Amino acid sequence: MVTSTDWIQALALIPHPEGGFYKEFHRSKHVLEKKSLPAGFTGKRELASVIHYMLTSDSYSAFHRLLSDEIWHFHDGSPFLIHLINPDGVYSVVRLGLNVNIGQVPCFVIPAGYYFGAEVAEENSFALASCTVIPAFNFDDFEMPTSDELISIFPHLVNEIMHLSRKG
Ligand code: GUN
Repeated sequence: MVTSTDWIQALALIPHPEGGFYKEFHRSKHVLEKKSLPAGFTGKRELASVIHYMLTSDSYSAFHRLLSDEIWHFHDGSPFLIHLINPDGVYSVVRLGLNVNIGQVPCFVIPAGYYFGAEVAEENSFALASCTVIPAFNFDDFEMPTSDELISIFPHLVNEIMHLSRKG
């Protein structure tokens, strides 16, 4: 049985500012110029990047959003619960895992512009996925509001937001 510590060592995972552990393991050498990108991008970007991403049961990924779709593939551990808020304020939860008999999905695309956060579905466990962004991830394209900021946009989701956001 492969433990979370085994994965952290084997994949050289490090703490991620949004919660959990990660390591970028691919960044395309090809570059897209700013003029080829949709509005909102601040400069040129590599074509794509991929990270390994792990959460443990005592951590979570706080609500944040990206300018691009993010493609999640499940690899090991307990399922992820991915919490989503679409731009109209509609909240939903996706279970990313391998047990398709109970509605889990092995791969999921988080649409650009959706706020999303994640946690591990089971206690005393971990979840491991890979996350691909096209064009490549850049912190300029990443926004992580505080709980107060999110609640002011989506006041009907105060409980959901407090569950998965940094206070402030
Ligand atoms: N690289 C650094 N942080 C992230 C992230 O949150 N998502 C992706 N896809 N890549 C990253």
